[in-house]
Amino acid sequence: MKIENKEYRTIWFDENNQSVKIIDQTKLPHQFMIKDLQTVKDAINAIKTMEVRGAPLIGGTAAYGMVLAIKENNDPNFIKKSSHDLIQSRPTAINLKWAVDRMMNKLSGLNDREVLSIALIEAKNICDEDEKFCENIGLNGLKIIEDIYNKKKDTVNILTHCNAGWLATINWGTATSPIYHAHKKGIPVHVWVDETRPRNQGANLTSYELNEEGVPNTIIADNTGGILMQRGDVDMCIVGSDRTLSTGDVCNKIGTYLKALAAYDNKVPFYVALPSSTIDWNIKNFKDIPIEERNSEELSHIEGLDKNNNLKKILIYPKKSNVLNLAFDVTPAKYVTGLITEKGICKASSDALKKMFK
Ligand code: MRU
Repeated sequence: MKIENKEYRTIWFDENNQSVKIIDQTKLPHQFMIKDLQTVKDAINAIKTMEVRGAPLIGGTAAYGMVLAIKENNDPNFIKKSSHDLIQSRPTAINLKWAVDRMMNKLSGLNDREVLSIALIEAKNICDEDEKFCENIGLNGLKIIEDIYNKKKDTVNILTHCNAGWLATINWGTATSPIYHAHKKGIPVHVWVDETRPRNQGANLTSYELNEEGVPNTIIADNTGGILMQRGDVDMCIVGSDRTLSTGDVCNKIGTYLKALAAYDNKVPFYVALPSSTIDWNIKNFKDIPIEERNSEELSHIEGLDKNNNLKKILIYPKKSNVLNLAFDVTPAKYVTGLITEKGICKASSDALKKMFK
């Protein structure tokens, strides 16, 4: 998708430099910076510090992280240790382990002369596949937006949480892909963008990328969705997912659950868009999902431009206050109207998911 009218993907391999390029998302929306990852440590650091984030992009970065590990030291023990370190870099999004396992399976049994070139091809395949899957999610989700528009004959108002946009994937996004497809088709859409405290991925990333694509949007505080739904100002919600269980329970950015409850109470359809790489077929009880707890500074401090256009980080809480920063929550399947996947739309249930994917 576009930034200042130039097409980008969120990650790519630079053949000249033999390094991995990413868009540093910690600098957005105020600075657009492309960063070079040279080593597996750079990739791990990029995931931990959220220079790259969003489940599918974390997976793509981990895949390229494996390539960087092999480039550094083509020794099976180093490669194995790197795969463990990558998997440990963030706990909740399952795409991370999925991508590293896929790379390790592909590499097993290869001789050391072919390992690097095959790893590079597989990392690119993982990213190309994600792009294709996200595009298909968009084409499948477009039908829902079209149906609403055909009935309403007026702008379709869609609420989204966090950033499940193209910046969270390789391209297109998950939740945003149906929106981009509708916009490109000329269907009038408007997006309510949850700010998404504490890191403000909605305001900093979703609103930014929608602006760059010319999609009308309005940032709202995280507590505003409820009243908008009561007023009939939200036609549907679409969010992404970091891990969806085979039961249909959806783990996503903290606050998603509260939005789903409000949607359920107001009979607003609540859709979750995800590629199959986000499905966890093993964990059955959502309480077993590892929920990331991040640094309290993400809550107690805030970053922005001062009046001289310099980036500043300031403390906004009382110095002595305790702070808890849980990064994800789980929306039980009963509150989810449907799952929009690359293969089609299905119910959030084990039967429907099995039928679609197994
Ligand atoms: O902590 P983040 O920014 O990595 O969390 C991202 C989300 O929760 C997204 O909604 C999710 O990964 C879906 S991305 C297509």
